[in-house]
Amino acid sequence: MFKVSIDGISVEVEPGTSILNAARQIGGDIVPPAMCYYSKLEGSGGKCRTCLVKVSKGSEKDPRPMPKLVASCRTTVMDGMEVQNITSPEVIEARKGVVEMLLLNHPLDCPVCDQAGECHLQDLGFEHGAAKTRYEFDRRTFERIDIGDKIQLHMTRCILCYRCVYTADQITNQRVHGVLNRGDHSEISTYIQKAVDNDFSGNVIDVCPVGALTDRTFRFKNRVWFTKPVEAHRDCEHEKCSGKVTLWYKGEDVLRVTARKDQYGEVEEFICNTCRFDKKKTSDWVIEGPRKVSNQSVISSNHYDTLMPLPVVKKNLVLQEANKEQFERETRL
Ligand code: SF4
Ligand code: FES
Repeated sequence: MFKVSIDGISVEVEPGTSILNAARQIGGDIVPPAMCYYSKLEGSGGKCRTCLVKVSKGSEKDPRPMPKLVASCRTTVMDGMEVQNITSPEVIEARKGVVEMLLLNHPLDCPVCDQAGECHLQDLGFEHGAAKTRYEFDRRTFERIDIGDKIQLHMTRCILCYRCVYTADQITNQRVHGVLNRGDHSEISTYIQKAVDNDFSGNVIDVCPVGALTDRTFRFKNRVWFTKPVEAHRDCEHEKCSGKVTLWYKGEDVLRVTARKDQYGEVEEFICNTCRFDKKKTSDWVIEGPRKVSNQSVISSNHYDTLMPLPVVKKNLVLQEANKEQFERETRL
């Protein structure tokens, strides 16, 4: 095992582990953000540079620091390596620059974007975004494209992380979309806008870290923080599909179905399109219980059961009712 220290916290990991995954083994604030790396997708990472860290000591054998900041998702640990993430002002400054770069073309349309509340770029912008941009040119914009009848691509929001391309390549049988052109002409496209039509195409929605690929059956139906996530499963006939999902309820209605995501926003297991798009009745599912939502997530708002025990909520409701009656009495007088 290799011993590595990240922001002063030591961990022992297998040789060949990336710095990012070593940090994930420690967990907490010292884990670098990742917009393009996705542990379930082979070859992902190395595109967005949000995971940059400083290697202040290369290894026990060669303690020289690395000359530049490195992408932690693509750099493997060495025995005795020392890494700085949130303890390095240089890294924080570089991350700010990366966010500014990602936001050169990405619109700030969070108030109308379906990804708002679960968008990694929104979180990064909140933590590291500069108040102003130095960019003087027009942002590039694209028309929205319907990829089949269930998925919509809004290329204007795409940050070219390639996750959807790897997903289509590795999870589905026929990839018909990819990144065309180079540099600032690069775009995600289905060649001559062919429909992505296969049983697992919906997974591109879950892996997209921003709102570029959205579920057409959920678009503009609701804000994610007004919905109630519930874990459920079914015995799916598709052999590659886990059948384990999160149902997003509003009242009695299931507004959307997604795969279950871990603390890093990555799906635990991929699901097929039948589970995602065609099973929107409670009776289709075996309900396991409410999904645990981190208190830091905006999705936890209005979910008082995690914040207040039920008797307290009931007491508050009684008090509210009493106040209302008192208010009505006083205004009548
Ligand atoms: S559409 Fe989304 S998942 Fe695909 S490259 Fe763009 S940002 Fe990444
Ligand atoms: S997550 Fe490492 S470069 Fe994107």
